[in-house]
Amino acid sequence: MPNARIIGTGMYVPERLVTNDEMTKIVDTSDEWIRERSGIQERHFISEECGASDLALEATKIALKNAKMTADEIDFIIFATLSPDYNFPGSGVLLQDKLGLKNIGALDVRNQCSGFVYGLSVANAYIRAGLYKNILLVGAEVHSTGLDFSDEGRHIAVLFGDGAGAVIISATDEERGVLSTHLHSDGSKALELCLINPGSRKIPRYYEGIWEDGTLYPHMNGREVFKYAVTLFPRVINEALETNGYSTEDIDLLIPHQANMRITEAIAHRLKLRPDQYFSNIHKYGNTTAASIPIALHEAIEEGRVKDNSLVILAAFGSGFTWASAAIRW
Ligand code: UT7
Repeated sequence: MPNARIIGTGMYVPERLVTNDEMTKIVDTSDEWIRERSGIQERHFISEECGASDLALEATKIALKNAKMTADEIDFIIFATLSPDYNFPGSGVLLQDKLGLKNIGALDVRNQCSGFVYGLSVANAYIRAGLYKNILLVGAEVHSTGLDFSDEGRHIAVLFGDGAGAVIISATDEERGVLSTHLHSDGSKALELCLINPGSRKIPRYYEGIWEDGTLYPHMNGREVFKYAVTLFPRVINEALETNGYSTEDIDLLIPHQANMRITEAIAHRLKLRPDQYFSNIHKYGNTTAASIPIALHEAIEEGRVKDNSLVILAAFGSGFTWASAAIRW
């Protein structure tokens, strides 16, 4: 049975840089509030019409270059996003078309902050089963066009950024690659972090008052999210370690979903990790949801923090609630 190995990574963020000081011009907030609560200093927003698939395309070009591959070698696409270009079809087919790939399958993953790890789990299983040899997995988000910059939404608006990360996952006979994945969910918490409309439940879908009731913007019970995140991240990381017979000391690099610096620090504290054992770049990009792990992975590789044979743990938690981890021998 082949193993599944990440052989190339790429990332892309739109040019427009929005610092916390600039954020104060559009939201009633302060640099101090944002930094203290989240560690975020700046993020990138799109400045002209641009979808998640456009950002994904740019990240994919870099991932292909790093994998020393051409697009026509990709035989399947997995696209994780909560902010697709259109309500339907999903962004996977748009990326397939932009890459000029005729008729290969494109799967859309709707698991928000855990989307990348869920997608990795699918890619790993497909490759191990011998279905595909080279899978493109992307996480891409355009949050900025859907945030509520009024007082009701400011605790969310300041946290999110636009961006994309891409990886090429290939079949290998070597004893390395994805060692395990663990996926979880708790739908009883679905409405703690959600975007309700336009949903299919209402008759009619675009009912009178839809613009006034706040349901066209993301809703988040920040404290509840925080409470569960700091418990479930360590649990799913330990699950990855125990499954493979490792302990926290064996982690070369933990790349958690970049939700919030305080959450990352709480995880590191609970797992007693040294600063060199975990990665954070949330100060530069904010929370880019499904894109945050592949962006962080790409930067960690560029900074030389992922080496041949490193034990890399990916972990995510977010809307659903969903949470997930992957152990990778690099
Ligand atoms: O993948 C999921 C990503 N989500 C997360 O990572 C969220 C986890 N949650 C958190 O990190 C925190 O709950 C937040 C950072 C979202 C919010 O922090 P908090 O301490 O829970 O704030 P809060 O919503 O309870 O608001 C505290 C105060 C309020 O003012 P008063 O009532 O105490 O006067 C808010 O009105 O902060 C005010 N506030 C703001 N002030 C300045 C809320 N948002 C802002 C803002 N700027 N952007």
